[in-house]
Amino acid sequence: MAAQMTATKVPEVRDITRIERIGAHSHIRGLGLDDALEPRQVCQGMVGQLAARRAAGIILEMIKDGHIAGRAVLIAGQPGTGKTAIAMGIAQSLGQDTPFTAIAGSEIFSLEMSKTEALSQAFRKAIGVRIKEETEIIEGEVVEIQIDRPATGTGTKVGKLTLKTTEMETIYDLGSKMIESLSKERVQAGDVITIDKATGKINKLGRSFTRARDYDAMGAQTQFVQCPEGELQKRKEVVHTVSLHEIDVINSRTQGFLALFSGDTGEIKSEVREQINAKVSEWREEGKAEIIPGVLFIDEVHMLDMECFSFLNRALESDLSPVLIMATNRGITRIRGTNYQSPHGIPIDLLDRLIIIATSPYTEKETRQILKIRYEEEDVELSEEALTVLTRIGLETSLRYAIQLISTAGVVCRKRGGTEVQVEDIKRVYSLFLDESRSSQYMKEYQDSFLFNETKATQMDTS
Ligand SMILES: Nc1ncnc2c1ncn2[C@@H]1O[C@H](COP(=O)(O)OP(=O)(O)OP(=O)(O)O)[C@@H](O)[C@H]1O
Ligand SMILES: [Mg+2]
Repeated sequence: MAAQMTATKVPEVRDITRIERIGAHSHIRGLGLDDALEPRQVCQGMVGQLAARRAAGIILEMIKDGHIAGRAVLIAGQPGTGKTAIAMGIAQSLGQDTPFTAIAGSEIFSLEMSKTEALSQAFRKAIGVRIKEETEIIEGEVVEIQIDRPATGTGTKVGKLTLKTTEMETIYDLGSKMIESLSKERVQAGDVITIDKATGKINKLGRSFTRARDYDAMGAQTQFVQCPEGELQKRKEVVHTVSLHEIDVINSRTQGFLALFSGDTGEIKSEVREQINAKVSEWREEGKAEIIPGVLFIDEVHMLDMECFSFLNRALESDLSPVLIMATNRGITRIRGTNYQSPHGIPIDLLDRLIIIATSPYTEKETRQILKIRYEEEDVELSEEALTVLTRIGLETSLRYAIQLISTAGVVCRKRGGTEVQVEDIKRVYSLFLDESRSSQYMKEYQDSFLFNETKATQMDTS
């Protein structure tokens, strides 16, 4: 048979069940950029924040290129200015194969593993390895299946399978295992099938068009396909994408792959990681694997301490490093675990390796647009006046507080039998739920009757 290098496409079955819930960022479907990477005012759930989105678009392009490892970006700005939203926008715009891992700075503090181990795992979750495998398959239309049962009734069955393409026809001998899988898949004459030569796995592609006449005898769901062309034997390229972390877990003897499902991976020995790095680079040289640097997003990065920051410094220099995106809303503050102050609570030597994207507060128009997108997302109807009032609340208190009022006002409105949230509903929830400044005001007035009252502590301590 002529050695054909053409890879045939065999449709893969993918079942994805997603539970859709409305989260804080579920309205974000991308960065909302056009082809020239220019942000549109309102697009893909994103509103305004144009400069930051433009910058994020360039980072996104860089990630998609996949050639640059170990770059780090910091998104810095006031609370509620869309830092996490922009990171989610980047995540949405990446291809399916590019890993995106999101953690919050506080997540790495656990008793089960050291901080640096947790960070290593996060880093390796963000590196994809695309492994290419070539398998030989036989693809053809079944002409005839002939099974000879031994006269005694017991013993191994043998048989013959005739397959054809538009150009050729071949008879294959069948062993008992193949006979079993053929009957399990209910393969009949007229079916177009593929058989994986290495594993013997049978895949039914559909009924041949030449059998369309028998249509009446079959269910409506029967799918018709063309009789394959060319040779019966074909090469098919299968591509799997896994993360380095997944390879680590599967190969760590103490854990085994089941740990991937429980998430209980424990610490992974550094020898295992070194072996895997060596193996992966071997595969790369042989052209069997490709590295896809993904993204590690560390939100609330000021929660990390000195050890973690020094780990990040080192980790970013490795060539197996993802693009690191961090976000913080802190100004000049103490670095956790030290008495030193630094911008964003991040040591200067790490800051020096970062490029920083700044976000800024929203205008009235933008706040209104974000609230509009949110109430549509939450399936709540809002009257124009109610939206105006809510926008004012958003500007005077915070955007987050205004967003919270949407669903609560929705409940109040439904309870009074209304379909569209009116100004009164907003007023009612505004009086029921305090925002931060009114709550602080209240506490100041009644401070003496609260427990653990320490009005002298003026600054919040993050360590
Ligand atoms: N430009 C935007 N377009 C659409 N929605 C936005 C935008 N900016 C923020 N939001 C929404 O407003 C809410 C608050 O924004 P987000 O959580 O991103 O703020 P943040 O900058 O991460 O704040 P923090 O510093 O407190 O973490 C979220 O629900 C977010 O999806
Ligand atoms: Mg955030």
